[in-house]
Amino acid sequence: MNALALHNVCLSFADGDERVHALDHVSLTIAAGELVAVSGASGSGKSSLLAVAGALRTPESGQVVIGDSDITAASPRERAAIRRRDLGFVFQQSNLFEALTSTDQLLYQAQLAGIPRATARVTAAELLAAVGISDKADRRPGQLSGGERQRVGIARALINSPRVILADEPTSALDAARAREIVQLLRDQTHQRQVATVMVTHDRDILAEADRVVTIRDGRIVDNGAP
Ligand SMILES: Nc1ncnc2c1ncn2[C@@H]1O[C@H](COP(=O)(O)OP(=O)(O)OP(=O)(O)O)[C@@H](O)[C@H]1O
Ligand SMILES: [Mg+2]
Repeated sequence: MNALALHNVCLSFADGDERVHALDHVSLTIAAGELVAVSGASGSGKSSLLAVAGALRTPESGQVVIGDSDITAASPRERAAIRRRDLGFVFQQSNLFEALTSTDQLLYQAQLAGIPRATARVTAAELLAAVGISDKADRRPGQLSGGERQRVGIARALINSPRVILADEPTSALDAARAREIVQLLRDQTHQRQVATVMVTHDRDILAEADRVVTIRDGRIVDNGAP
């Protein structure tokens, strides 16, 4: 089943008298349990693709479907609900709250998703174990390495059992060995939990870890990695 589908999506921005076509008739489907890497030069439209897939920007035309919801037809309130319920986000820098422990980062996200506290506590402990940092559950981000912070970020993205994870350059702040570990972790969790994961990356070394590599150039998909 497709967890995420983009059909003929167009997104453009005004640039003086011209328009920049950030996404130019982009169609892409991603199955549950698949890690897709999106690669392309700076300015090619990678973050724009994540923004429309994440219901953060509405395309001018085309459809974005998550599970069986057409999010392009949804109201802003419905889109916010879909984000909390069906999506997980992993950022370049892990974007954790400095004052919160690893456990509390997850509990806070769970609260936004409306998950009961007792359930969230059990899931948070299970996820911190799954990403290999049970022993750092009570630490704040300042007491964690970059790789450990990304592990917390991945666990946080999974707390609502999302259909789709969107990760924008999740390894760019890490050294090569740590970057590979983080992508392998993301891939393993994607497979185990049957999430559809889209990971934007500049990093050629880690493309090989993805199930499929999609290449974008000037807002168009020039290779969708299908065999
Ligand atoms: N808010 C905006 N206003 C105007 N133009 C924008 C805006 N956001 C993106 N663009 C333009 O859209 C195009 C695609 O940008 P996007 O951020 O998607 O690229 P990217 O592939 O993520 O690049 P990078 O690798 O540098 O992060 C670029 O030409 C960019 O300048
Ligand atoms: Mg970008």
